[in-house]
Amino acid sequence: MLYVLNQKSHFTKQEILKYRQKLSPLPLKENVIFAPSMCFLPFFEDFSLCAQDVSPFPTGAYTGEEAAKSLASLGVSYGIVGHSERRTYFNENNELLEQKMAQIFNAGMTPILCIGESLEDYQQGNTKEVLQKQLQVLFSFPQEMWKKAIIAYEPIWAIGTGKVIDVKLLEEITLFIKQQTGSRVLYGGSIQLTKIHDFQKIPTLDGFLIGGMSLQVDDVIQLIQNA
Ligand code: PGA
Repeated sequence: MLYVLNQKSHFTKQEILKYRQKLSPLPLKENVIFAPSMCFLPFFEDFSLCAQDVSPFPTGAYTGEEAAKSLASLGVSYGIVGHSERRTYFNENNELLEQKMAQIFNAGMTPILCIGESLEDYQQGNTKEVLQKQLQVLFSFPQEMWKKAIIAYEPIWAIGTGKVIDVKLLEEITLFIKQQTGSRVLYGGSIQLTKIHDFQKIPTLDGFLIGGMSLQVDDVIQLIQNA
């Protein structure tokens, strides 16, 4: 199982160093992947690393962007593409996400493509249709690349809300994604330690994308110990 810890834009230097210090005695677990703020990535260089976003451009004159190749040179192996917060606040569309994914593949990193439906789509029964459209980003690449990617299924209505998806439904959706892509599939949305335990039994689920819980260092320590 993979556990990707998305700390989003949280923490100051002082706070992250305190957090980091508490993790220090723990052994490295390659399947526990840290995605801190870009500026704090070097503080986690002894862990597996993921970037929360990447530039759609290569290295060059693109002020403020973080190129996949630069990130890879820091030891970053994974890059998140299309998190719902980026789709909402930065208007990211499939065309842009394809460019980002191409940069990630070119840098030899693994893309984590986030997909998920809104509450409205969920209530209207449109989930699979929405996911199908979002998966077009992956389908624009040759089929042999699909299994190199990771798909993170994150229903928008479950992100940061405390609402967690029903086990049966998650099983159905992860199977739907896996049958089409052959990719590894993660779930994200208000994950806590107890839910990890319940969901781990789903055969088509390969891990979790974890937001809020990743800020609680004591929970993260427990996660690493059991990972
Ligand atoms: P959450 O965030 O665990 O706080 O719901 C998940 C995510 O945004 O990736």
